[in-house]
Amino acid sequence: MKAVTYNNVLCDEKFTQHSDQTTLEYLEAQGVKVNYHCRDGTCGACRCKLNYGSVVYTIEPLAYIRDGEILTCCSQPTSDIDITSQY
Ligand code: FES
Repeated sequence: MKAVTYNNVLCDEKFTQHSDQTTLEYLEAQGVKVNYHCRDGTCGACRCKLNYGSVVYTIEPLAYIRDGEILTCCSQPTSDIDITSQY
């Protein structure tokens, strides 16, 4: 069970993730509008700033990410995380 806090210009919401979905899939299942395009780690549209916590990638991402950023479409939290949408 991981706490996922998602921040963007429209909301600051906190959820508790019980499943092994990607963070993107999990947030969508909660009804959160999140940015995405390819859903396979190549475009970078789902890029978020990782304010704290850690994730593991389910596939090796090809999109460029800076230190402190994650791709939600191909990662799962390994701890409580706090993320901020870049859009
Ligand atoms: S949706 Fe394209 S990298 Fe995540």
